[in-house]
Amino acid sequence: MSGDLLPRSAERIVLRRLSVDDLADFQAYRCDPDVARYQGWEATSDSEARAFLDATGKGRLLQAGEWCQIGIAARADAALIGDIGICLSKDETEAEIGFSLNRQHQGKGLAGDAVRAAIQMVFEETPAHRVIGITDTRNLPSIRLLERLGFRKIDTLQSIFQGEACTEYVFALTRRQTAP
Ligand SMILES: CC(C)(COP(=O)(O)OP(=O)(O)OC[C@H]1O[C@@H](n2cnc3c(N)ncnc32)[C@H](O)[C@@H]1OP(=O)(O)O)[C@@H](O)C(=O)NCCC(=O)NCCS
Repeated sequence: MSGDLLPRSAERIVLRRLSVDDLADFQAYRCDPDVARYQGWEATSDSEARAFLDATGKGRLLQAGEWCQIGIAARADAALIGDIGICLSKDETEAEIGFSLNRQHQGKGLAGDAVRAAIQMVFEETPAHRVIGITDTRNLPSIRLLERLGFRKIDTLQSIFQGEACTEYVFALTRRQTAP
């Protein structure tokens, strides 16, 4: 794996490390119930969020069996507009991806640009042969994003989420599908 994985630029966004300086921008979308609705994480206090940003900003990226979190910044002013979580499996054969974007920046294709860049990083920097995304069947923007990037539905899971029975789709994108 190469030393400096980030920053990584796309046309309109930059993937970069999170830092404590992002606290206000991070809390702006992490405390938005619409953004948090189908997420595995919950909104936290400012002090918990600061500790998370500090730890994750210094943490190692793309380590087997561990989640890492990276920031999505607007290219124009470097302000944080969302984040992406990536978990490389213990055997490094696949990576799971999750994503969140501030509502003010949704509907412009920016999350798609960011997730595409993150997938490219996974395939360049790890041996994973596929990336998966797991999403609630009611989360239509997330399903649309995954399908737009070429993910295919490979499984349907019955789960319990926040005490409530729900159905989730598992989407996958293989390395071969992204090959030029
Ligand atoms: C999932 C989420 C990131 C999708 O954000 P998004 O902005 O809709 O996604 P994209 O970046 O792919 O943008 C696509 C939308 O922008 C529009 N768009 C405008 N300009 C565009 C462009 N240049 N390129 C692509 N799409 C563009 C598309 O038409 C599309 O709108 P539509 O969905 O109404 O058809 C966002 O809804 C979110 O943060 N949700 C809460 C967190 C969550 O549930 N995450 C998933 C759990 S894993």
